[in-house]
Amino acid sequence: MAKYKIVWMPGDGIGVDVLDAAKIVLDAVAIDAEYTPAEIGWTCWEKYGNALPDATVEILKNSTCGFFGAITSKPHVPGYRSPIVRMRQLFDLYINQRPCKAYPGNPLNLKEGIDIVIFRENTEGLYFGAEYFPVPAGLAELEGIKGRIDPAETAISLRVITRKGSNRIVRAAFDFAVKHNRKCVTVVHKANVVRKTCGLFLEEAKKVSQEYPGIEYREENVDAVAMWLIKNPTSYDVIVTTNLFGDIISDEAAQLVGGLGFASSGNIGTNLAVFEPTHGSAPKYAGQYKVNPMATLLAARLMLEWLGETAKASRLEDAIATVIREGKKRTYDMGGASTTLEVAEEVARKL
Ligand code: NAI
Ligand code: MG
Repeated sequence: MAKYKIVWMPGDGIGVDVLDAAKIVLDAVAIDAEYTPAEIGWTCWEKYGNALPDATVEILKNSTCGFFGAITSKPHVPGYRSPIVRMRQLFDLYINQRPCKAYPGNPLNLKEGIDIVIFRENTEGLYFGAEYFPVPAGLAELEGIKGRIDPAETAISLRVITRKGSNRIVRAAFDFAVKHNRKCVTVVHKANVVRKTCGLFLEEAKKVSQEYPGIEYREENVDAVAMWLIKNPTSYDVIVTTNLFGDIISDEAAQLVGGLGFASSGNIGTNLAVFEPTHGSAPKYAGQYKVNPMATLLAARLMLEWLGETAKASRLEDAIATVIREGKKRTYDMGGASTTLEVAEEVARKL
């Protein structure tokens, strides 16, 4: 039996293209893994009325980790629930780890020297999933709301922040900083306005930070960070924040180092993790093998690291960095004409 059981979930659109690329590279890395295909996404919604079928959930339960491409989703579809958000909540994948590194020679870098890792809380905050329209009586009667809204004409999404949820994501960021010899953790918040929820998050962050005296601790407002990330991105090291803020600033940070074609992520819990490029299914490119596989290959690198295959993880990162630096195989977004698979084959050769 293989050491690792990896659930292989290409999903929709270019999810298939980029996972084909990842397979070429993972085969070259040669870990002792068995890859089990599982269905996810829009096609499942159409077939079963469920974008994350029970069969896939069962396979995930009996696996080491998952590797996921992308899904298509459409707004205003009654009953539809995002399979990614569901996976995160079902398996309590509370860490969303998003590295944003400017690999030398990438023509899309805003600046050289950017190397930020964002830890986004992945299960609560504004994505907790407690949403109301119209507003039920019990909620409309609460102090602070009562008399200020017309319940029938108002929608409310609750921002749920727990002490436990805040503590463990900040701890994950600091543990990462220690392990990877990072110097500084910045907590991103808006506690001057969103006083209760951001206040609690900050309180826990401060508490946790005191256990890590060797790491500099900073607190910054999310709006200021949005600006400073562009003005002075090299001043950031590790960032930790709540769900919505993290969603937004991690896409912003991705754009500093090449955009969606370079944005990898890990959804990490205590017993399971799912790795993915952060981009969507880009339907207009589906099946054309044109898009950049780098985000997915970098997600494979994150997976190797999480599995404890650290030597193979750094070999893969070196190979990716070499291909970027040499610039011989580049997809359209980098100004080249190579296919998704040609780039992956080049990375595999460097391995
Ligand atoms: P998208 O990420 O699919 O594509 C936006 C644009 O970014 C593309 O048209 C393309 O120009 C570029 N792009 C994306 N990935 C690229 C890559 N690997 N290399 C080069 N260029 C790349 O986002 P969009 O168009 O907003 O959404 C398309 C579908 O994907 C929607 O149904 C949306 O709901 C879904 N989606 C799924 C996500 C996921 O599976 N995690 C995340 C975001 C969107
Ligand atoms: Mg996003």
